[in-house]
Amino acid sequence: MCGILAYVGHREAYPVILKGLKRLEYRGYDSSGVAMIHDSIKVYKKKGKVAELEEFLMGKELKSTIGIGHTRWATHGEPSDRNAHPHMSNSGRIAMIHNGIIENYASIKQDLLSKGYKFNSDTDTEILVNFIDDILIHNSCSLEEAVRVALKRVVGAYVIVLLDEENPDTLIAARKGSPLVIGIGKGEHFLASDASPIIEYTKEVVYINDYELAIIKSDELILKNLGNEKITPFVQQLDLELSAIEKGGFDHFMLKEIYEQPKTIYDCLRGRLDIAHEDIIMGGVESQIDKLKHANRIIIIACGTSWHAGLAAEYIIEELCRIPVEVEYASEFRYRNPIVNKGDVIFAISQSGETADTLVAIERAKEQGALIFGVLNVVGSSIARVSHAGAYTHAGPEIGVASTKAFTAQLVVLTMIALKIAKEKQSVSHDRFVELLHELNALPEKVEKILSDVSSIQSIAAKTANANSFLYLGRGYNFPVALEGALKLKEISYIHAEGYPAAEMKHGPIALVDESLPVLFVATRDAYHEKVVSNMQEINARKGKLIAVVTEGDKTLAAFTKDIIAVPAADEIIAPILNVIPLQLLSYYIGVSRGLDVDRPRNLAKSVTVE
Ligand code: M6R
Repeated sequence: MCGILAYVGHREAYPVILKGLKRLEYRGYDSSGVAMIHDSIKVYKKKGKVAELEEFLMGKELKSTIGIGHTRWATHGEPSDRNAHPHMSNSGRIAMIHNGIIENYASIKQDLLSKGYKFNSDTDTEILVNFIDDILIHNSCSLEEAVRVALKRVVGAYVIVLLDEENPDTLIAARKGSPLVIGIGKGEHFLASDASPIIEYTKEVVYINDYELAIIKSDELILKNLGNEKITPFVQQLDLELSAIEKGGFDHFMLKEIYEQPKTIYDCLRGRLDIAHEDIIMGGVESQIDKLKHANRIIIIACGTSWHAGLAAEYIIEELCRIPVEVEYASEFRYRNPIVNKGDVIFAISQSGETADTLVAIERAKEQGALIFGVLNVVGSSIARVSHAGAYTHAGPEIGVASTKAFTAQLVVLTMIALKIAKEKQSVSHDRFVELLHELNALPEKVEKILSDVSSIQSIAAKTANANSFLYLGRGYNFPVALEGALKLKEISYIHAEGYPAAEMKHGPIALVDESLPVLFVATRDAYHEKVVSNMQEINARKGKLIAVVTEGDKTLAAFTKDIIAVPAADEIIAPILNVIPLQLLSYYIGVSRGLDVDRPRNLAKSVTVE
């Protein structure tokens, strides 16, 4: 949710910032801007994607070795040139970029209006930069001190980076609730919302914590808390390769990430699945095994695709571990005075580890004494920091806004967690445990097989690309897959889609069915198969356009439709990990055939750091 990039050092700042903003564009892309110091502060901003800013700035003299840049996902005020960041203070001394939301901006704005301040935008950011400016003017203090004073009054979440005309060699940055990483080069520093724009310059980074303030020059990094005490920066080595954040010959990141799944699933299993000793090794689970196996209840908190992984986990954990599970939308859980009892364990699932709804929900549960177990992809992310224990999904950076490889990695990790708890709790037989280990082990090869021939998916995409609406149906373990398929289609193609339990469909949504409605059944062989076939009959009788994801070799559905996608046979607990892959591809091909930007769908952002 907004990408931040700043540079101070010996290079020209603009090319570094522009390249970095392109890497961060997945975080927001409705407008962008840069500010640099060349005698005075110069700000350039443009509505639209970073490419439009680049075109706008083509041929302009942008000489400076210090600068800040921002790519925006609008919260306060529509996407426009004037609402784009950076924002200048009325005095013209400071420019600021911001990721997050200042919740009490309205009262601060009132104070500033009464002092004669004028605002050119609808943003909370412009209020904050002027609030800092006002403190600076009235207290004759340093900018660093003014920022500290201002942030003590601010309610909300932020990363801010400021450029100061009177100190043209220094950047000031601060964070609370939104991510900020500083890359340490030789005589240069890079500030960014994540490490992806930094990796090509340096692998040495410092992750800034909440309520910390950084004062950064080309050859100096000072960290302080809001009480003005110095903190020793904790320098870490990035474990990330440039190839992981480039398209690598694919047309889109989304397609690249779909095709990476054999590898990401393998990486997720590696070192954990111990077939030889018939065991699963997961340090995070083992460290909390008593609490996990004796949990009265597991509450899963997540949003979007991660919530769908949580729903699948509910079925798996209840089946294997016999522990009651509730799956909560993070945004609802936080605000409804939830009951969290002693002995409850919270699973927080998040690809980015920065989702504000999830973060605040688990902070609330933590206050109530619950154990927080994170299932996360991004090492060192905000949710990782507040979790007591957890397991990483090792899916690597996911750049496409639509989550694909992160989802399958979440399912794999959650299945392994459930199996490990079940083994320790002895709620699963040894034979069943070993059978599922082998099923997991076979996954990368089966995913390869799905990806090796996508012709049936492409042909269904071509036939349905102009549909107005889609219905996705599945039962049992395949119900979350239906929900995820529908979400993917909505995000990427802007076609309305609903996911429903296949049998529940007859209690309402069946009214939508006519010869124009594609109805996709996730109908692989499992305990519900016959019932699902009956549900297909019901749609067939009403002339819905049936599409089915079936187990290879299953001919029972050929009588209803030619639009069949076959996937390799798998145990019903494991099958969702395979079954979702054709649905990811279907959305992708439909989105592409509609001429849409599948990596950056409208209105979305990869990392939703506002509530
Ligand atoms: O980073 P998170 O997993 O916490 O993100 C949660 C949702 O915002 C995310 O899954 C969203 O639904 C994706 N765009 C799905 O493709």
